[in-house]
Amino acid sequence: MKDILDRVIKSDQPESKDIIVMLKACGEDQKALLSSARLIKNKSLGNKVYFRGLIEFSNICSKDCLYCGIRKGNFFIDRYNISDQDIINAAGFARANNYASIVLQSGEIFSPVFTRRIENLLKKIHKATDGSLRITLSLGEQDKETYIRWFNSGAHRYLLRIETSNPDLYVRIHPQDDLHNFDKRLQSLYHLKSIGYQTGTGVMIGLPGQTYEDLANDILFMKTFEIDMVGMGPYIEHSDTPLFNSNNSLNLQQRFSLTLNMIAVLRIVMPKINIAAATALQAIDKMGREKAILAGANVIMPNITPGIYRDSYSLYNNKPCTDENADDCINCLDARIKMTGSEIGYGEWGDSIFFIDKSSSC
Ligand code: 5AD
Ligand code: FES
Repeated sequence: MKDILDRVIKSDQPESKDIIVMLKACGEDQKALLSSARLIKNKSLGNKVYFRGLIEFSNICSKDCLYCGIRKGNFFIDRYNISDQDIINAAGFARANNYASIVLQSGEIFSPVFTRRIENLLKKIHKATDGSLRITLSLGEQDKETYIRWFNSGAHRYLLRIETSNPDLYVRIHPQDDLHNFDKRLQSLYHLKSIGYQTGTGVMIGLPGQTYEDLANDILFMKTFEIDMVGMGPYIEHSDTPLFNSNNSLNLQQRFSLTLNMIAVLRIVMPKINIAAATALQAIDKMGREKAILAGANVIMPNITPGIYRDSYSLYNNKPCTDENADDCINCLDARIKMTGSEIGYGEWGDSIFFIDKSSSC
């Protein structure tokens, strides 16, 4: 492992075969991989962890991804759409608790009404919080015009997971129609980047039929694309989705361990990007996100959605924190993150240093 680590750390173009060996690491090799990633994070970014208050403001979705609990075809969940005022209150809560960033996430809706709503909402949030917050959007594929309008209204980061960089696998986990088109998703990512967003993506790890080579290619895709932020987590079955009964060669523990390895490899390959410790890790292991911090992640997204709506944003089974209110999450999180030896960047935006370096180098 040591030779491979040395080679990948030094290389500008790491080879897929080396990455695959790293992704398969277990036992002492895994320990070496994770601690090397942690060291690289501390050297490149320091030991700070940044909070992003996550507001899942609506679970209404027009898409039908075969793995996702809030897919349009799932008639077993209650749909909700939080009012603008409640969203603004949640943003105020984030500010009061010194989270300098929030993420607005919902199911994918594309309509002129939705575009206008988000445009106005962004302005209202900035006004109510005196422009103190960085706002990330995670609202799926939209046309370029819409992305520009939202950027001009004060959203400067956008998360759009590619889910997998393998177009064939993408087809196997989505309905085959225009709404679920790999090329369109990729094009959306290019739009976001060209507009000037800090652009984030991510993948699910341990999907049925996914190979180590796929995952290595996901890492190389993120590097080649020069992504600024990544949130990736284990795939977890949801019982009311078509993918629920698919055969999976990895159990949940194996997917968890593989996710830590993915985070570590990505940190080694892209030392200065922001990497989130995905909430899905916590659904498998109570200390999942803390373990991700120790493997090189530097961002946590505490859920600050008003409590009564939490149960309905169930992307996968056993989604954590649905029975706690936001205050509980803050107090326990603070202590837990400090236990990892990290400092919390309260009141700091924690922009992607990779993005800042890129922007100032031309
Ligand atoms: N398991 C894990 N992650 C999931 N997501 C959706 N469904 C699942 C699932 N069953 C992730 C997708 C999506 C993000 C909002 O949640 O990657 O982009
Ligand atoms: Fe909503 Fe996939 S099911 S975007």
